[in-house]
Amino acid sequence: MKNIVVIYKSKYGCTKRYALWIKDALKCDMFDSDNIDEKDLLKYDLIIYGNPIYASKSIGKRFNKVNNIIIFYVGLSDVNDTDLNKLNDTYSSDVKKFFYFRGACDYDNLKINHKILIKLLFKMINKKSKDNISASEKIILETYNNKVDYTSKNQIIELINYVTKYY
Ligand SMILES: Cc1cc2nc3c(=O)[nH]c(=O)nc-3n(C[C@H](O)[C@H](O)[C@H](O)COP(=O)(O)O)c2cc1C
Repeated sequence: MKNIVVIYKSKYGCTKRYALWIKDALKCDMFDSDNIDEKDLLKYDLIIYGNPIYASKSIGKRFNKVNNIIIFYVGLSDVNDTDLNKLNDTYSSDVKKFFYFRGACDYDNLKINHKILIKLLFKMINKKSKDNISASEKIILETYNNKVDYTSKNQIIELINYVTKYY
């Protein structure tokens, strides 16, 4: 297999958890994307980059000079309710493939600004009639004052199979 690296951005550790599972499966290097310069990535044949989703946007910094990159997003919504095309738009065409894994959220352990945001949204959404609630709003209702965890190691299987087949 070629020279592969996993990098990740993570606020509460979920994306890091997936990055660790991938690193262990592929036996490759792993770095927090905040601690690595783009020039250090140029020596790798493939970069697997984990990005969590906040307010419908992936938050990891962009690397413009690297060629072979695979992105995995981590969010609470069901993959069928997530518009990956919208997220993918923000990356260059050099991205070879996108994956989506489900994350987790523990309301009690959120930073104060996130807690306030979720609380405000919860109050707003709660006033709506059930038929008008979107998938991402459903997630807010689920998350408020709650602990949800959809992470599982078997979600990485498709990515691992893809990488071992093509790299
Ligand atoms: C303030 C806030 C906004 C969020 N917005 C979204 C969202 O728009 N879509 C989604 O699928 N998940 C959303 N999430 C859930 C996160 O993507 C999820 O908790 C993920 O596991 C975080 O990964 P991390 O721990 O690596 O940062 C949100 C979470 C918080 C706290």
